[in-house]
Amino acid sequence: MEIKPIEFSELLGKVPLSEELLKNHLKLYEGYVTNTNLLMKKLEEIRLSGNALSPEFAELKRRFAWEWNGVRLHELYFENLGGNGDKSLAPRVVDIIKGAFGSFESFKEDLIATAKMRGIGWVVTYFDPHTNNVFNAWINEHNESHLAGLKPLIVLDVFEHAYMLDFGINRPDYINTIFDNLNWMVIESRI
Ligand SMILES: [Fe+2]
Repeated sequence: MEIKPIEFSELLGKVPLSEELLKNHLKLYEGYVTNTNLLMKKLEEIRLSGNALSPEFAELKRRFAWEWNGVRLHELYFENLGGNGDKSLAPRVVDIIKGAFGSFESFKEDLIATAKMRGIGWVVTYFDPHTNNVFNAWINEHNESHLAGLKPLIVLDVFEHAYMLDFGINRPDYINTIFDNLNWMVIESRI
């Protein structure tokens, strides 16, 4: 079964990122979709040919989470952009965040500190519906350190391609800009 890229071109002009940066980023996302489809096809071919115990099969299996998460994380990221940062649109999420961190400001501090970590990857604010806990997790590349079974509420891309063209190496300015333009209505719908 093939997956299809989601159309995000409506974000152009709606987020404080240059058209060039955003267009490049959307193209990159489509590349992950193409490669995920390619991997699914190749894995099926190998399985059907009876070679599922081959090293090729094992290596492609290992690669799968990287490509797949490259697709899904970008979708979660683009979906939570394009708002005006108005968190009153997410009363349930804000309550949960305050319950977990004591205050919204403490949560934001933790999120920003996580996003400033050295390295490339993602920052995901996860919600645990079993304990009402909220964690700001650092995801290395696309596939390391995800928290199993938790719901991603906020997803921030901190690969250099997400900001370098507009912000140079000033990642903090990029993070603050994105934070101020989050779509809290979308974030509320993820709870
Ligand atoms: Fe990206």
